[in-house]
Amino acid sequence: MRRIKTAVVGLNRGGILAKHILNFAHSLELVAVCDIDRAKADKFAAENKIPAVYYSLDELLKTDVEAVVLATPIPDHANHVIAALGAGKHVLSEVTCATTMEDCLRIAEAVKTAKGKYMMEENYCYYRPLTIVQNMIKVGLLGDIYYGESDYLMDFQLRSGFPEQLQPWRKDVYFGRRGHPYITHTLGPLCFTMGSDIKTVTCMAAGRTYPELAADNTCVLMLQTKDGGMIRLRNSFVSSRPDLYTYYSVQGTKGCYQGPQGPTDFHKIHIRGLCKPNEWRNVYDFRGFLPKEWDIFPEGYFDDTKDNGTEKYDIGAPLLLEAFANCIINNTEPPVSAARALNWTAAGLLSEASVNGGGIPVEVPDFGL
Ligand SMILES: NC(=O)c1ccc[n+]([C@@H]2O[C@H](COP(=O)([O-])OP(=O)(O)OC[C@H]3O[C@@H](n4cnc5c(N)ncnc54)[C@H](O)[C@@H]3O)[C@@H](O)[C@H]2O)c1
Repeated sequence: MRRIKTAVVGLNRGGILAKHILNFAHSLELVAVCDIDRAKADKFAAENKIPAVYYSLDELLKTDVEAVVLATPIPDHANHVIAALGAGKHVLSEVTCATTMEDCLRIAEAVKTAKGKYMMEENYCYYRPLTIVQNMIKVGLLGDIYYGESDYLMDFQLRSGFPEQLQPWRKDVYFGRRGHPYITHTLGPLCFTMGSDIKTVTCMAAGRTYPELAADNTCVLMLQTKDGGMIRLRNSFVSSRPDLYTYYSVQGTKGCYQGPQGPTDFHKIHIRGLCKPNEWRNVYDFRGFLPKEWDIFPEGYFDDTKDNGTEKYDIGAPLLLEAFANCIINNTEPPVSAARALNWTAAGLLSEASVNGGGIPVEVPDFGL
């Protein structure tokens, strides 16, 4: 079996991805890790028996590694992606693509001439209950899908040193502007499930607990999809409430999926003909629709009866890593392609122009991919 020689760059989030590769994603062979923090890189490599360690992306890119997983801070993604594609590597970039529209365009140009593949690590697209819904949609059980919604509500106020001691890049990306640039975890899985990307974005925002931060407390984005559907997102990093970051709902002409909104809730689905009127059933009643790709986990690894949506947000990442390997091995379009990833990222970036214009619709450009 062909395995793709892979390196992981940036070992915080990247450390988790590296362990997913070692434990589950066997079509990738983890041959190297890289971090500018030498102590962190050495420790990770020693503890996980990684054959090679690098302290600079440039040095790593001179090697015969075939693919790089970039888990560096978001403002660096564009430069790192462009360097890696330019060196002939395949790239799996963490979310989001970039922090400016200019950098989105630069990535698009690099992808157009690259030999290697570009895919974004939007792990929530492979969120286990959503993968059941995606397969049910494929066989028409929910009818035509015309609406989706998602919430991503977190409370950074509970983290020590907030907001002064936030990492500078995170403070800048999450709180340095109005609108909401970090929406791929909400928008991406909906577009992935509904099968369409974004034409226009509108955004309204409210709440000013921290006048020293540019960001409002909460944003609501209304997005029109290219096929005429619509999506509603609420995103916030400062909501005084329990976290909620895996809530999704999709509505079709024949049925609806609605995820849990708290620990006593469950993954609900209603399908005309399979459910009584007004009846929600548990999405795991339809586990026969789980993609076979979940078989990379050992039997009994998941206890779906306990899934109330309050944890396990990252469980689909190994499937995404395998999908990345497979698009290289089979020379196919990456499932979370540059075209889709840039569309979702740009919709978030352009929400700033919408909110500053009083909620005006802003067109998401075509990146020509
Ligand atoms: N998909 C998810 O669920 C998820 C979860 C967390 C973070 N992320 C994403 O992962 C990325 C990294 O986030 P994080 O929380 O790990 O950030 P972080 O700042 O905590 O860690 C970044 C790591 O990269 C290293 N680094 C920085 N510049 C580097 C360079 N030029 N070369 C090599 N190493 C470098 C740092 O030393 C550090 O170890 C971001 O894009 C973030 O949005 C995704």
